Amino acid sequence: MRSIHVKSYAQLSFEAAKIIAAQIALKQDTVLGLATGSTPVGAYQQLAEWNQQGKLDFSQVRTFNLDEYRGLAGDHPQSYRYFMQKHLFSQINILPGNTHVPQGDCADASAECANYDSSILAAGGIDLQLLGIGHNGHIGFNEPSNCFVLPTHEVALTQRTLEANSRFFDAAEQQPRSALTMGIAPIMQAKRILLISQGSEKMPILEKALYGPVTPEVPASILQLHPNLTVIYNESDC
Ligand code: F6R
Repeated sequence: MRSIHVKSYAQLSFEAAKIIAAQIALKQDTVLGLATGSTPVGAYQQLAEWNQQGKLDFSQVRTFNLDEYRGLAGDHPQSYRYFMQKHLFSQINILPGNTHVPQGDCADASAECANYDSSILAAGGIDLQLLGIGHNGHIGFNEPSNCFVLPTHEVALTQRTLEANSRFFDAAEQQPRSALTMGIAPIMQAKRILLISQGSEKMPILEKALYGPVTPEVPASILQLHPNLTVIYNESDC
């Protein structure tokens, strides 16, 4: 594991964007695994800036997002497809057909999940997977459980995750209670993983994940077994 300690969110975003940009420079048709949530927004802004300045080309890049809320269509403002369009895809020269987010409003979740895993394999697997970490140690929406679920699957969100993510929903809005998430297999099969963690409140779970026992009760702890893991963390709240 390589760990990079930074002192601000701006630095975390810059370091993460540099690693992603270097990956694309090395392999123009890179397959990126992408995350939503607050943490990667700064890195996405930086990548978009470099793209607009002509320094970084996404024309051959393919992306697979980690997760999507069950029941939300891609044009729903709280959907992760919408989030990705807003924060990254609409700002860079990526081909829309090269971006993949599980379809939350599909009729058949198991078929959608199986199809998602097949598409990742058909693309040659993920070259670089970007991850955030949940307060309960989740990665994607792989919630604490008594076993690691390998394939992409539908998952019931825990109370902790529902509370953490309620900030994105208006009081009147119905917050989905389940999601489709990339499983542990496609994440761990990524050639390289970049985990980013922002703020003091994430430090206890980050330490548990990286130095505690490997257990499905702390899903991110499986990352200890990955041969090419980079962690960028900022323990301050600035
Ligand atoms: C989102 C995702 C989640 C988040 C995690 C941290 O696609 O996969 O695992 O990375 O919940 O979220 P933030 O960055 O908002 O703290």
